[in-house]
Amino acid sequence: MYIEPFGVEMWMNRYENACRFNLAETCVASLTLDELLQMAGVDDPLAVLRDRPLTYGAITGSDQLRQYIAQLFERQGPENVLVAHGTIGANALVYQALVSAGDSVATVVPTYQQHVSLPESIGATVNQVPLRAEDQYQLDMDALAHAAKGARLISLVNPNNPTGAVLDRAQMEQVIAIASENDAYLLADEVYRGAHQSEDTSPSFVDLYPKAISTGSMSKAFALAGLRLGWIVGPIDVLDAAERHRDYNTISVGMVDDHLATIALGVADQILDRSRDIVRTNHAIVSDWIASQNAVTWVPPKGGTTGLLHYANGGPSYELAEKLLHETGVLLTPGSAIGAEGTLRLGYANHSSILKDGLGPLGEFLARQ
Ligand SMILES: Cc1ncc(COP(=O)(O)O)c(C=O)c1O
Repeated sequence: MYIEPFGVEMWMNRYENACRFNLAETCVASLTLDELLQMAGVDDPLAVLRDRPLTYGAITGSDQLRQYIAQLFERQGPENVLVAHGTIGANALVYQALVSAGDSVATVVPTYQQHVSLPESIGATVNQVPLRAEDQYQLDMDALAHAAKGARLISLVNPNNPTGAVLDRAQMEQVIAIASENDAYLLADEVYRGAHQSEDTSPSFVDLYPKAISTGSMSKAFALAGLRLGWIVGPIDVLDAAERHRDYNTISVGMVDDHLATIALGVADQILDRSRDIVRTNHAIVSDWIASQNAVTWVPPKGGTTGLLHYANGGPSYELAEKLLHETGVLLTPGSAIGAEGTLRLGYANHSSILKDGLGPLGEFLARQ
C-alpha cells in the first residue's frame, strides 16, 4: 500500500534532537514523572503494579482510565471510549474503520498530514478545504459544504494545528449542519482541546452530533507524550468497527502507560491549568516579540500550541528552516512540511525560558534575510 511520506514527522525525526532551542515542539512543556506524581500526591506509582503479572492488561483500556476519559466530555460514558496508541493510532483506526476505496472525504487544511494521506492511501478521494491567512484562518463554510457533498466523512483538527484557529460554538453548529445534510461521519481530532487562550475550553464535537468521533491523547494539552496513550470517543458501532482493526494492530496499550495515564487524569484539571498558564504566558511573549519585528507577522492563535509565522524574505521554507537551525540552533518547522509553504510553524508551548532564548536569535536571523 503506497502512502505519502509524513512531512512533519520526517523533519522532526531528523532535527528534533539536534537543536539548541526547540521552538518546533507541539506538546505543552512535558511534565517529568516526579512533577506528575507530586501533583497527584502519589509516592510509589508502581505499588499497585509490583505484584501483578505484566500481561496485556485491560485490552480496550482499564475501567478507571476509560471512566476518566469519558469525564473529559459532557455526554459520554466509558462504553464510548476506546484506548489507542496516541492520537496517531486513534486517527488511523478511525480511517481504517470508516473509509473505503472510492469514498469521498472532506478535510480542512493545513492539518496533521494523517488526515489527508491516510484516506488517500486507502483509495478515497480527499477534498481539501483551505484555511487562509487573509481570512484569519476562519473556516469558509461554503467551501466546506461544497467539498463535503456526498462525503462519507469530514475531518478537522480543533484547535487547529498548525494555525491555532479555534471554531466557536456557532461555527461548530454550522459544521455539524453540513455533516448532517450529507449523513457524514465527523472526525474531530481534538488533541489540543484544553489548551486555549480564552477562559472556556471548546465543547467537543462528540457531544453535539451523533455521528461525531473525537480523538485525543495525553500528549499535547496533557503534556505527557511519553505515555503514548490516546483515545477514540464516539458511538458504540464506530468503536466496534475500530476495535476490529485494533485487534490486528494494537492488542492493548502498555499496562504501565494505562496506569500512569489514570493517575494523570485523576488530576486532569491541575494539569490543564498548568498547560493553560504556559500557553497564555508564552502567547504574550510571542505577541510582544512580533510587535517588535519588521520581518515577521502572524495571525494570533486562539488555541493549541502552534502558530504560523509569515516571513517577508528568505525564500523556500525548508531551506530557510535548515539555515536557521545551522546558524542559530533554533528549530522551527518549515511550512512545506505541513502544507503551508511561505510560513514557518512556531510551537510556542515549550518552557518559557527556551522560547525567550530562541526568539532573540530567530528575530536577528529573519531580519538579515
Ligand atoms: C493534530 C494532531 N493529531 C495527532 C497527533 C499525534 O499525537 P499523539 O499520537 O502523540 O497523540 C499530532 C502530533 O503532533 C497532532 O498535531
